[in-house]
Amino acid sequence: MSVLESVLSVERPLVKLTNVYKTFHAGTVNEVRPMQGINLDIAEGSFVIVLGGNGSGKSTLLNAMAGSFSIDAGRIEMDGLDVTKWPEHRRASLIGRVFQNPFSGTAPSMSILDNFSLAAKRGKFRGLSWAHSRQLRDELRDRVGGLKMGLEDRMDSTIGSLSGGQRQALTLLMATWLKPRLLLLDEHTAALDPKSADQVIALTDEIIARERLTTLMVTHSMQQAVNLGSRIVMMHKGNLLHDFSTSQKHRLRVEDLLVRFENVRRRELLDESVAKLLRTRYI
Ligand SMILES: Nc1ncnc2c1ncn2[C@@H]1O[C@H](COP(=O)(O)OP(=O)(O)OP(=O)(O)O)[C@@H](O)[C@H]1O
Ligand SMILES: [Mg+2]
Repeated sequence: MSVLESVLSVERPLVKLTNVYKTFHAGTVNEVRPMQGINLDIAEGSFVIVLGGNGSGKSTLLNAMAGSFSIDAGRIEMDGLDVTKWPEHRRASLIGRVFQNPFSGTAPSMSILDNFSLAAKRGKFRGLSWAHSRQLRDELRDRVGGLKMGLEDRMDSTIGSLSGGQRQALTLLMATWLKPRLLLLDEHTAALDPKSADQVIALTDEIIARERLTTLMVTHSMQQAVNLGSRIVMMHKGNLLHDFSTSQKHRLRVEDLLVRFENVRRRELLDESVAKLLRTRYI
């Protein structure tokens, strides 16, 4: 890399969304607009917490980055490339994802080892022939052992026989194995009991720090938002309502975030009552 290239790469965000719009069911009674001109730069190595009420557009934001649908307008750049028109499978080479449901992302009737082999065959671990390589099998066992969930001796157990927390930990391991350029976590601990959620969160934090992964993590937990990450963005009705930088985030407490949410809720109630008033007055 030349000096100029390295200077440019320091300044260039890893992910850049420019004026992104998305409407679902346009022109029908079910029309929703979860992205209303989103502009967002994500610096390389940053760990961004995404907050917002139900339906505010958090998952849609992550899905737009992953290419789960085509956007209506705007541009999405990743790693300096314009990926706006790239289909989801092409972007998958840059992205690791973990969803809320511990059942998604793995095949329950297959063993831990076979799940990793399957991921290898699907191209997630290109060039690695897992099932046949003693060395890779040992490496996998080591990494699974590193989860400290006692799974290293259960490599032949089916994924379906594991707890939700164990599954999410494995899914996280799969998603981060090849150091994705971008890691997308969509409420990946929301379906777990509190103890498992804490365990998976600790693991998440450890992997992200160790691998210096650029990450977006959606959560409804104010505690997680305050404790984790280097930046918080708060969404509301398809817009970015607040954006707290690292230094602002350091001073944030759970109560501060709750106040922001309360303000949004109040404004919404006010909007509704104004709308109602207007309806009764003019219709
Ligand atoms: N593929 C889709 N097709 C139709 N509507 C969608 C689709 N994805 C999202 N929506 C709608 O867009 C809006 C925003 O949804 P989104 O899933 O982004 O919300 P969210 O902030 O993740 O909410 P939650 O906290 O409940 O997960 C919702 O009204 C949702 O129903
Ligand atoms: Mg969601």
